Amino acid sequence: MEISSAEFIISNTNVKKCPAGVFPEYAFIGRSNVGKSSLINMLTAHKGLAMASSTPGKTMLINHFLINKSWYLVDLPGYGYARRGQKGQEQIKTIIEDYILEREQMTNLFVLIDSRLEPQKIDLEFMEWLGENGIPFAIVFTKADKLSGGRINGNVSSYLSKLKKQWEELPPYFVTSAETRMGRKEILDYIESINKSVY
Ligand code: GTP
Ligand code: MG
Repeated sequence: MEISSAEFIISNTNVKKCPAGVFPEYAFIGRSNVGKSSLINMLTAHKGLAMASSTPGKTMLINHFLINKSWYLVDLPGYGYARRGQKGQEQIKTIIEDYILEREQMTNLFVLIDSRLEPQKIDLEFMEWLGENGIPFAIVFTKADKLSGGRINGNVSSYLSKLKKQWEELPPYFVTSAETRMGRKEILDYIESINKSVY
């Protein structure tokens, strides 16, 4: 799928103020600094569309980007950033959970996982919560450029075997790099196939 246009529409903290209408949307979630905003910029080939930063906790709001005037990409705040403090983390958690549970247009959630790390409890528990609530999601392994091909394959397969202990069926998954654009076509094709089934 070609991206012919990508426009920032609105940022807010409240799911009720998200854009009205029936366009399908695809949201990106994961721990702070995992690469959500960078991935949106890579997918749209619009550097600086979503605000990325080496400082964790950059994205604080629900951000809607209208793509090809017919569907949205949504950049969400990251979870698990301890330096936000207890209260700050609770606020972000509420924003994220309300969005995920209440936003009917949210067609698929991409859960981002840093491909360099061992499976983290916070991510496994988050995915379990998605399962309990029947939220459709796919996994995106990020920052693959920071590892050799062999290590990526090893990390991804050990992650998936860990998930198999928890899940009967594995979710779709993608291996990506915002630097090399690895995984771009695969994710856009996946979105396109869902868009076709929605329209
Ligand atoms: P929050 O908004 O704070 O939750 O973070 P985020 O998940 O949106 O992460 P962001 O995209 O801001 O990226 C965090 C840092 O990781 C930035 O310094 C990015 O340049 C870097 N980064 C993101 N993706 C990649 C990648 O694929 N490869 C490399 N090498 N660096 C990446
Ligand atoms: Mg961000």
